[in-house]
Amino acid sequence: MTLIAELERTAAGLTAALTDAASAAEAESLRNAYLGRKGELAALMSRLPELPADERPAFGKAANAVKERLNRLLEERLAAFKAEVDNASLSRFDPSMPGRMPERGSLHPLTLVLEEICRILNNLGFETVDGPEAETDFHNFEALNFPRDHPARDMQDTLFLADGLLMRTHTSPMQVRAMLERKKPPVAVIAPGKVYRRDYDQTHSPMFHQVEGLLVDEGVGLAHLRGVLTHLLRELFGPDVTLRFRPSFFPFTEPSVEVDMSCVICRGSGSRADGKGGKETCRVCKGTGWLEILGAGMVDPAVFAAVGFSPACTGFAFGMGVERIAMLKYGIDDLRLFFENDLRFLGRFVK
Ligand code: PHE
Repeated sequence: MTLIAELERTAAGLTAALTDAASAAEAESLRNAYLGRKGELAALMSRLPELPADERPAFGKAANAVKERLNRLLEERLAAFKAEVDNASLSRFDPSMPGRMPERGSLHPLTLVLEEICRILNNLGFETVDGPEAETDFHNFEALNFPRDHPARDMQDTLFLADGLLMRTHTSPMQVRAMLERKKPPVAVIAPGKVYRRDYDQTHSPMFHQVEGLLVDEGVGLAHLRGVLTHLLRELFGPDVTLRFRPSFFPFTEPSVEVDMSCVICRGSGSRADGKGGKETCRVCKGTGWLEILGAGMVDPAVFAAVGFSPACTGFAFGMGVERIAMLKYGIDDLRLFFENDLRFLGRFVK
C-alpha cells in the first residue's frame, strides 16, 4: 500500500472511531493514539524518507491537511460531549428549590453597647481617644496617685509584663495621657478600651472593657458629673432612670463616688410580680432597688500635679464597665457568654 493510501486509511480509521466514541475520555485517548507524538500519523510521517524526493512535498502537505481535519473533528466531538454534560446538569436543576441564604455577620453585643456609649458622649462634646493596653507603671498607677507599695494597688489584680510594663487594669491611664498631651485645660475626652485583671468567674473576665470619661475645665463640680451621667444612663436605659451617688474611694479622685442607678428590672421597687399574684424579691438588685454601675469622682489635685496642670484646675472623671452595662441592657446573667463566640448567642444581637 502506498504511503498516501495508508494516510487515508488512518484518517478513515480515526473518523470511524471518533463517531463510535461514547465519552469525552474515549475521544481524548484517540487523540493520543492517532495524533500524539507517538501516534499513527507521526509514524507515517517518519517514513517520509521511503518516498522519492519529488513526492515528499506532496505527501507532507497531504499529511498536514489530514492532521488538521482530524483535529477539527476531534474538537467538534469533544464540544458535543461537553454540551451533553451541561444539558444533563441543567435538567437536574430544580428552580423550585428554596434558596440557601448566606449567613450574615453582626456586630458583637459589646461593640454595639460601646459604640452607643461613645455616640451619646461624643454628642455631648467628649472626644474619643485611644491608647496602649500594655502600660507603664507611671500611667496606670504612679500618676494616678497610687504610690509604689501602697495597698490601694492591691485592688487591681494586676497582670505584670517584662520590662516594667503591665497590662492596664483600668482605662484611667488615659486620663494621664490625655492631660499630658493637651498640656492644659480644657480637656473633654472619653477612652473606650480593653482592660485586664487576674480574675475569672461568672461576673469577672481577665479581659474586659471600660469607658473612661474626663472633663477638666474651670468651675467643674459634682453637679456636672451628675448631669452627664444622668443623661448617659437615661439614653442607655430609658428616661425613668434615677441615679444615686455613694461616697467611695479611688486614689485619683477626691471626693470619690460609686454611682448607682435605679434597678432597670424592678424599676427601683426591689420586688417583682412572681406570676402567681404575689411579689418576690428582685434578683438583679437583690431587693435594694439600686444597681452599682460605675465609679467616678472629682480629679484629685495629686493627679493634676503629676501631669503638670495647675492646682486651680477642676475636673471630674468616671469609669464604667461595658460588660456590666451590656448585661443589664440585654438581661444576660453570665459574663462568659460574651467571650465564648457561640454564634447562637452572638446572632441574637443583629440590629
Ligand atoms: N478606674 C476605676 C476602676 O476601675 C474607675 C474610675 C474611673 C473611678 C474614673 C473614678 C474615676 O475601677
